Amino acid sequence: MSTATLAVDAARAIQAAAPGFAPRIAMVLGSGLGALADAVTDAVNVPYGEIPGFPEPGVSGHAGQLILGRLGGQPVACLKGRAHAYEGRGIDVMKVPVRAMRLVGCEAIFLTCAAGSLRADIPPGGLMAFADHISLLPGNPLTGPNDDDFGPRFPSLEHAYEPGLRALLKDVAADLDVTLAEGVYAAMIGPSFETPAEIRMLRTLGADAVGMSTVPECILARHCGLRVVATAAITNYGVGMSDEPVDHSRTLAFAGLAGEALGRLVVRFLERFDEAA
Ligand code: HPA
Repeated sequence: MSTATLAVDAARAIQAAAPGFAPRIAMVLGSGLGALADAVTDAVNVPYGEIPGFPEPGVSGHAGQLILGRLGGQPVACLKGRAHAYEGRGIDVMKVPVRAMRLVGCEAIFLTCAAGSLRADIPPGGLMAFADHISLLPGNPLTGPNDDDFGPRFPSLEHAYEPGLRALLKDVAADLDVTLAEGVYAAMIGPSFETPAEIRMLRTLGADAVGMSTVPECILARHCGLRVVATAAITNYGVGMSDEPVDHSRTLAFAGLAGEALGRLVVRFLERFDEAA
């Protein structure tokens, strides 16, 4: 079945699970950042397994559930858990979920993830808003025939992370006294962490953080006209930048730490969302 058909079926399943509910903003909750979903009120939880074309995520820290409800006064759809290209189900493994978000009426998507810092002044436990990205992934989720119903063959990624939404996020962070860095995210396929030489390369290329996700979702979202804002929870320094080892359990622990501040940021951002319109 084509992903276009699957996305339509997925949207129908989501609408059937919460009749009459129309989410305005989608959220993708990355590794260790699922706690934000607990703050959603009037929640309807739909396991990914019940939605056509939604992938069952395979990494600890990722439960596959769509949570529909209200957060910061807005109707939201939280994708708790994402599938990654490194799991081997394709670079476009998030195509159906992202397009289904558009089909159920979302106008924007807030992407979150864990990432390694490439800058000494962005420590573990901190947050970084995406200003831009560098994709070093082996492919693009839009390759293959274009689904004209969703967007153009050659979508622009200039201002992919919408400057107005980022400005609002920075304003909210200042208001809440939350430190929010801004920078360029480099996407690597993983699942092995980078070598020290790769970390030096990424710094030379102008990246400020590195991770294994988010870029495919950004590309898919921009293609179908969703406004994008993204924030990384910094869980470690890039390999070779500090004496601390990098491993997944530390990723989850530090994501939880950064996730607390990110949660406050997201709620206030949603409350003030219309200021960025
Ligand atoms: N590299 C890639 N992905 C990551 C890292 C990292 O250092 N930390 C969290 N996700």
